[in-house]
Order: sequence, then C-alpha cells, then structure tokens
Amino acid sequence: MNPDVRVLDADQLRSAHMLFAATIHRGPVDDQRWSHTATTYSPGRTLGIHHGSALVATATSIPSKLVVPGGAVLPMAAVTRVGVRADHTRSGLLTAMMRTQLDDVAARGEPVATLRASEARIYGRFGYGVATRGRDLTVNAERASWRPGAPLGGSVRLLDRDEILPTMRDVYETFALNRVGSITRPDRWWQSMFGHRIDDREPALGVVHTGSGGDDGFAIAFRTSATGFAEQTLEIADLQAADVQATAGLWRFLLGVDLITSVRTELRPLDEPLELLLGDPRACVVTGQHDETWLRLVDVPAALAARSYGPADPVLLAVHDPLLEKNAGVYRIADGSAEFVGPLGGPVAPELECDAAALAMAYLGDRTPSQLVATGWWSAPDPGAVRRADAAFATAEVPWCGTYF
Ligand SMILES: CC(C)(COP(=O)(O)OP(=O)(O)OC[C@H]1O[C@@H](n2cnc3c(N)ncnc32)[C@H](O)[C@@H]1OP(=O)(O)O)[C@@H](O)C(=O)NCCC(=O)NCCS
Repeated sequence: MNPDVRVLDADQLRSAHMLFAATIHRGPVDDQRWSHTATTYSPGRTLGIHHGSALVATATSIPSKLVVPGGAVLPMAAVTRVGVRADHTRSGLLTAMMRTQLDDVAARGEPVATLRASEARIYGRFGYGVATRGRDLTVNAERASWRPGAPLGGSVRLLDRDEILPTMRDVYETFALNRVGSITRPDRWWQSMFGHRIDDREPALGVVHTGSGGDDGFAIAFRTSATGFAEQTLEIADLQAADVQATAGLWRFLLGVDLITSVRTELRPLDEPLELLLGDPRACVVTGQHDETWLRLVDVPAALAARSYGPADPVLLAVHDPLLEKNAGVYRIADGSAEFVGPLGGPVAPELECDAAALAMAYLGDRTPSQLVATGWWSAPDPGAVRRADAAFATAEVPWCGTYF
C-alpha cells in the first residue's frame, strides 16, 4: 500500500521537528529554541506520514532563490529536516515523501530544489546531484604570516553583540547573489542559525570589512576551545567576502586576534586563495573536502534555459528523468541558450546523454561534461560532442553556496 503523505498543519510542526531531531540523534528542543526554529517553517510545505496516530516520517522545504551561471536568480525549494523514525526506515517512506515533494515544488513553479545530505547515498535516486563542494580548514594562527605583496584588505570593525545579525544580513544582501551557487537567506534564517549561540552568551566575534566601495564582507566566529589562557581556538561559522581584498582583510583580522592560536572553519569555497596569501602556506591545513549543495533540476527546460553558456557549436543532450517524465527529452544547447528539440527515442539523435542527477553535477559548473563522460555519469554516443559541451557548460568561477540550512 502506498504511504499516505500529508501536508502538516501549523500545530503539528513542533512534533515534526522533534521527530527530525531524533532521527539525527539530537535531543528535544526547549521552548526558547523552538521560538527561533518555528518561524523557519513555511506554511503548507511540511510533509508527514503517520502510523496510527504517530508521526513517523517528515520532510519540509523553505522557499529561497539560487544564482545560476550568467547571474539569473531562480526560485528554489530549500529541502531540509528530512527524517524517518528508526523503526520505520527502509519501507519506502522517504521515497513517498520525495515524490510528493518534487510534484509540490514543480506545482509551485520552483524550477530547482537543493538540500544538504546527511549521507551521500540517499538522494541520487531522486535526481539530486552534487553541484557545489567545500573544504574544511584549520589555520595555525602563530605560523600565519602574510606573504609580501599579499592584498592588505581594507578596515575591519568589531560589532556589538546586538548589531551582529542585522549588520551581517544587510551586508550579505549587497553582494552575496553575485556568486554562482549562492542562495537568498530569509530574515528568520539569521536568528535560527546564530541567535541561540548569541543568546547563550557564547564568546562570539562579529566583524565587518570595509573596502574602497563600502562594506563588502563580514564574519562571525565563536571561541570553541581553550588549552590554557593563551591557546584558544576560533571557529568561523560564516565568512562572506565580495572579493579577494575583503577575503584577505577578514582572514588577516581573525588570524591576528590575541590569544587565538588556531582558526577552524568548514565548507569554504574550493577556490578561496588562503594559501596564496600566506608566507607559510602550510600554516593552512585542509582537513576535509565535502559535497555541499545537492541540486535537483525540477523543471529541466526552465533551468537549462535560465543559465548562460559559453561560446560553442551546438550540442544535442538527451536528459532521462523517470521520476519527472516531462523533463525527459533532447535539448539543443547553442548560441548561449538551450531549448527542447524532441522526445527521447524520436527523430533527433542525441550526441550526449545523462540523467537529472548527472546534469545537476555540471549545471552550476562544479564538474565538466568531459569529467562526467570519462567517469560514466554521462554517455557520449558522439564523442566529438564532449569538447563542445565542455565549452558550453564552462563557468568563470567555482560555484559555492556558503549557506547551511
Ligand atoms: C535517510 C532516511 C530519511 C531514509 O528514509 P527511508 O524511509 O528509510 O528511505 P526509503 O525506504 O524510501 O529508501 C529508498 C531507497 O534508498 C535507500 N536508502 C535510504 N536511506 C539510505 C541510506 N542512509 N544509505 C543507503 N541507502 C539508503 C534504501 O535502501 C532504498 O533503496 P531501494 O529502493 O534500492 O530499496 C532515513 O534513513 C533517516 O531518517 N535517516 C536518519 C536521518 C537522516 O539522515 N535524514 C536525512 C537528512 S539529509
């Protein structure tokens, strides 16, 4: 029997949140925490499956927007808080929720959905592919001298505690949507992400960078551990910078704070040039590299038409999508645009073929078609098309989101 997936009412959201928290092995939220979290649920977007009267599966999404190559900003469903109670897993509940959610997102006219995956083996089957990645860094502040000639950056000012969230929010909006892969942050996101840490009086540093054109970067960092008074670690929870000058200015400041011997951070852009700025590049140690954005092209014709393409002779790309059949077809990518030119198995013979997840891996520019053909994610009935596809899908910068949800 097909599981009965329902849209939850507002008075069921706290139970849904508790269920999700339990599936990722977190404790229940108290009233204060829930007051921050409740506002991050969007009405009518949380799904649930019951067993008897008990809620046993849930998933939600939040409306946001995603920047795609060329600068277009697409409505996006930010999928999150997905969980199935441990005694009901592997019986198709997630599959039922994902189908319902994809139909719902399509009906809302959101051509793309993204999520962060707890495990890499869950979402590919639903057409999600890794579209941005990031690296974790630990920097030894005592060894982090600056290379002569490295950008100096502008000035950095420290924010009062109650200024941190509104100031960061305002600065984010001035430049963050210039980067491919970045997303809008709803007002309530700031409070739910950092509000409890600030309210709990965790040691926090909030700073803004000002360059020649005004405020163009910010960071929030928390002191997370101390081995004695003079050996303390800062964790950068968010650092956004409009350019290399702002990046340099913020890192110079954070690495120069007295009594801090180590600075840690996660999921930074793959192209953040920290090692190029340091006199001793080994002061910066890459401690991990992970998938960041999992992207689902929900409306493939709209998503393909929305991004820009590099100059290249036409490419005929077949897209397979058994979950959302209306996406299936052959697309012609040429002259900086993309259009549907025929059904699969029809008169237009494709030169390249992929499924929705593998298309997502190239869509923002994280992977090239030639990498995907070489590793079997895409097939190439006409190998001569691979170079043309590389030229068409090429992007000038490495995509990165930088927003956790
Ligand atoms: C991940 C989770 C939501 C999957 O839910 P589920 O109801 O068990 O998923 P389904 O039964 O619909 O599984 C669909 C398919 O995915 C596979 N699958 C699901 N979760 C998987 C996992 N963690 N690892 C590997 N395969 C997985 C199933 O084996 C199944 O494969 P099949 O169709 O070949 O049999 C659930 O295990 C869970 O709540 N985990 C803990 C919380 C969590 O990680 N949430 C995700 C946050 S991003």
